[in-house]
Amino acid sequence: MSEPGMVVEGPLAGLEEIKKQYPTERAALMPALHAAQREFGWLSHEALAAVASRLNLPEATVRSTASFYSMFQGKSTGRHAVRICTNVACMVLGAEGLLAVLNGLYGLAPGQTSPDGRFSLEVMECIGACDKGPSMLVNEDLHTDLSAEKIIEVLETYE
Ligand code: FES
Repeated sequence: MSEPGMVVEGPLAGLEEIKKQYPTERAALMPALHAAQREFGWLSHEALAAVASRLNLPEATVRSTASFYSMFQGKSTGRHAVRICTNVACMVLGAEGLLAVLNGLYGLAPGQTSPDGRFSLEVMECIGACDKGPSMLVNEDLHTDLSAEKIIEVLETYE
């Protein structure tokens, strides 16, 4: 536990600032998991243990929360996690065609990482942008109204 004014260093040091924004350490869990995923790229066993330690929470609580939400990656990914919605509205609006584009252009199939390690691809259920589909997340950025041309344009902005 850190003392007021003390400089905290090391992995997940930024969680000390996040904790100050919430009334309890448990309330800080979701933003802490997002921060850990940003820092490490995915949530390994060790990363979850570090979050639990920083927040003084049981590891089981941290693990069960992380595994419940599909936006948290439980395995190593490419530098950018691409998640395409394949729920009904997005599928009707062309999500399947986008998957074909990603396969042709980057050699990506759902559950895989591109050979250059740049992107990993997952399909997911509704991400709440059905009226603007097809929709996808790249890391935590939402992109909507995708077409074959637009998805390439968007992905080329991610090195
Ligand atoms: S169905 Fe795709 S965002 Fe809702």
